[in-house]
Amino acid sequence: MSIQTRKPAAIIWQHSAERDQPAISLDENSKLDKESVLNKLRESFNFPDYFGDNWDAAYDLLLDYVDQMEGAATWRFSINRASNVNEADLADWIHMMTDLCTYAESRGLALRIVIHDSPKAGDQAFEEEAVSEIITSEVRESVERSVLCWLATTDENGQPNVSPKEVFAVADSQNIVVANIASPRSARNIRANQKVCLSFVDVFVQKGFKIIGTATEVKRSEPEYSHWVAPLLTMAGDRYPIHSVFVVSAIAAEPIVAPSYRLYPSETTEESQIQSALRTYGVTRDKDG
Ligand SMILES: Cc1cc2nc3c(=O)[nH]c(=O)nc-3n(C[C@H](O)[C@H](O)[C@H](O)COP(=O)(O)O)c2cc1C
Repeated sequence: MSIQTRKPAAIIWQHSAERDQPAISLDENSKLDKESVLNKLRESFNFPDYFGDNWDAAYDLLLDYVDQMEGAATWRFSINRASNVNEADLADWIHMMTDLCTYAESRGLALRIVIHDSPKAGDQAFEEEAVSEIITSEVRESVERSVLCWLATTDENGQPNVSPKEVFAVADSQNIVVANIASPRSARNIRANQKVCLSFVDVFVQKGFKIIGTATEVKRSEPEYSHWVAPLLTMAGDRYPIHSVFVVSAIAAEPIVAPSYRLYPSETTEESQIQSALRTYGVTRDKDG
């Protein structure tokens, strides 16, 4: 069984052209080096006056930030390649942020660092990111073909809860969003334990995916709400008010396949499964009807 997993440290490289949200630029006066990066961190994270202008001090102060996180967080940075970039200083900063993500993960918190950069030809960081993408186009198509998903959560005692959700969508290459219309227990459980599993199958083709990840509830009052709810609004329409959005940050995607594909490979095709499902459910396709 092929399971795609994300490296524990969630450093995500995106092309500058894909930038759709504000980001902390790491350069200053056409230079990107230790001084400019520490200055930008100081400004953006309100470091106190006693901040000692070194990586260790910055790391300690950022750890305090992580300790105060209540759910998943994304920190966005940008690199302007027109600036004079000190690659060694940039590498030190990336190393520090990687350690920070690993620390967050050890505490069950999903911290993502998105770096908007302009890749050079053959740039390894961008190539690695392409390989480690979890919500691939195959997963996205499967979400679009699946009418329902099933969201599994657990409470503080480990008691599982599974419930169906129809209003769900891929938000980006990392996140699936689910509308909380009538899901009080899922919401309560996510507050107690962010670990979730989300399954969906195309009931005709009888294939789908299981997404393992961490979920955060984004409420209407939060500034990011409008961003996350956007893909769900047309699906829910006016008749189904959305109270909040469960943002599921994917750590792994595992295919779900009906046993027939493996037990009877010579006679099982997607088309034969569709025909069999149409008979089982007593329905016809538009083009057949
Ligand atoms: C077909 C179907 C689709 C549903 N879609 C959603 C949905 O998109 N969002 C939602 O919050 N509830 C949806 N529900 C309702 C919840 O599954 C239901 O209220 C459930 O009891 C919630 O359980 P929970 O509080 O454990 O999450 C749907 C129910 C069904 C039967």
